[in-house]
Amino acid sequence: MINTFIITILLIALAVTAGLLIFIVVRIMLRKEPWPASTGERLARILDGFPLPVFEIDSEHKVTQWNSALETMSGIKKADVLGTSGQWRAFYPEKRPVLADLIADGAPGKTIDAFYKGKFKPAPLIDGAYEAEDFFPALGEKGKWYQFTASPIRDNRGVVGAIEILEDVTDQHIADQNLRYYVGQLTRVQEEERKYLARELHDTTVQTLVALIYQLDNFFAGKPNLTEAETDRLRTIYKSLKRAVEGVRGFSRELRPPVLDDLGLVPGLSWLADDLKKVYNVEVNVDVSGEEKRLPQDVELALFRIIQEALINSAKHARVPSMQAKIAYLKDKVEVNVIDRGEGFDLPEKISSLPRDGKLGLAGIAERVQLLGGRLEIDTGKGRGTSVNVEIPL
Ligand SMILES: Nc1ncnc2c1ncn2[C@@H]1O[C@H](COP(=O)(O)OP(=O)(O)O)[C@@H](O)[C@H]1O
Ligand SMILES: [Mg+2]
Repeated sequence: MINTFIITILLIALAVTAGLLIFIVVRIMLRKEPWPASTGERLARILDGFPLPVFEIDSEHKVTQWNSALETMSGIKKADVLGTSGQWRAFYPEKRPVLADLIADGAPGKTIDAFYKGKFKPAPLIDGAYEAEDFFPALGEKGKWYQFTASPIRDNRGVVGAIEILEDVTDQHIADQNLRYYVGQLTRVQEEERKYLARELHDTTVQTLVALIYQLDNFFAGKPNLTEAETDRLRTIYKSLKRAVEGVRGFSRELRPPVLDDLGLVPGLSWLADDLKKVYNVEVNVDVSGEEKRLPQDVELALFRIIQEALINSAKHARVPSMQAKIAYLKDKVEVNVIDRGEGFDLPEKISSLPRDGKLGLAGIAERVQLLGGRLEIDTGKGRGTSVNVEIPL
């Protein structure tokens, strides 16, 4: 009797427990939220909401993340690339390492340079990360410019993969190219205009003024009976005419120093040093090394303009009483340095962005160097002075 009672109680308890369990399981199964996702799935969800293309690879170079923006950009679906080493397909027509592959391998700068020749640099904020900018002819209608950063992923064993993020900078590139084209045209037109004006002033204006002086001289000679007042008046006119001739000649020389065309770069620089002394009251030390020789006219003119602009910049912006212009004639190149120990300045990342603020000097220098196939380096910084270094192959 008692046994039956206990068994009944136990059965009821069992039924209640089972019911409760079933209730809990059903509740869990009916939950709207799935089970907590794995870290990888969570990361995938975060990256899919990210507006820039991103992918991640592991140390075996297998793709572990490929976000929606990258699917759109590349036309390659996540499902088709995850777990493969097909990341290159988004960017290149043939298999080759992408930046993330090199970073995941901890490749040295030399190896990275073999694939991204001079177009990459260490990323400023992340240790071991690199950023690069390159043109991808196969993307879009006419190719695309992308800026991309690849960063290593580390755990306590070291680098276990890499993540790469891309940004389409095609529009900026087109704007930059337009600006550079504009500066290039401006530089050429300015040079032609200077030449034209210098010649016109010399050949026409100066000649006319000189002819007037002769006429006045003759007029004087034929009039011995002028009053003193009349003579004084004519003398004043005569002096004014002479001053005008000197003024126009000087102006014409500044536009295009004949000494540059006649005698070459070094005499041109001596003339420039004298001119800057007069105009800005600064001392320019010209230092020539190597065997001085005449260079092609366009090279001499371009180097002259480069040095002139750099020296005028030092005179105007550096707040120093003196500066140095060095020119070295080497076997197959000419090196030029314009150095001041003045205030220095923060150089923008791209010189080509300066014309946007109406600053055409440094951009003009860069343009001329580019036209001659040379190299430009500007070493400056607040409080560090400025050194403009140019190398032109001969
Ligand atoms: N030698 C220099 N010392 C200090 N600042 C300089 C020097 N050269 C250039 N800069 C800075 O760089 C800017 C850009 O120069 P540039 O392109 O020649 O334009 P601009 O001389 O017309 O201002 C200048 O406005 C100035 O702030
Ligand atoms: Mg300037």
